[in-house]
Amino acid sequence: MSDERLRLFCGLQLPRETIDELTAWQAAHFKGLHLSGGRVVPPENLHVTLAFLGSRPAGEVPAIMAELREASARAGAIELQPLRYRETRGVGMIVLKDVTGAATVLAEDLGARLERLGVYRFERRPWLSHVTVLRFKERAGLTPGVANIRSIHVVRSALYRSSLGPAGATYDALETAALGGVDDGS
Ligand code: 2AM
Repeated sequence: MSDERLRLFCGLQLPRETIDELTAWQAAHFKGLHLSGGRVVPPENLHVTLAFLGSRPAGEVPAIMAELREASARAGAIELQPLRYRETRGVGMIVLKDVTGAATVLAEDLGARLERLGVYRFERRPWLSHVTVLRFKERAGLTPGVANIRSIHVVRSALYRSSLGPAGATYDALETAALGGVDDGS
């Protein structure tokens, strides 16, 4: 048996037009920003985390993916509305309103499934729908508005592998799953 381990997380994929809009918003608000040890999150890394699993044996991927597929198929239509920009100690994020509540239901259902599988523990804080747009060592102290970013209609989730490197983490979608209640057009 291979003892390969992968750093894994489940997330919502963002539609192309949302990525483009967020990238333009980042450029408008973060241009010329000098971050100590920080960086603007690149377009290919923008997503909404559902559950961060951390380092797991590669052999667990099929079982994790089966749970993500099942939970995603049962999910209702997800609409996420940008509410405000918020900074924590390490990141800047756009907080999203889970308009139909379906994203929260999905995060809770998926978390419970992954806990039963023994690959995940719920975080103490309730799940918060957000997109991380900036990473830093010292708070940037910004207050950009998000009123002109349109609501996001999510159609797919994914199991991502995170690879840590000198230029920051890169995320690859190992597999994607269609969300229930939508025609994802693929
Ligand atoms: P984020 O959604 O707030 O950015 C991959 O690392 C993703 O998993 C990140 O987008 C990150 O949060 C999320 N994540 C949650 N807990 C994490 C942890 N303890 N370490 C690294 N990433 C974590």
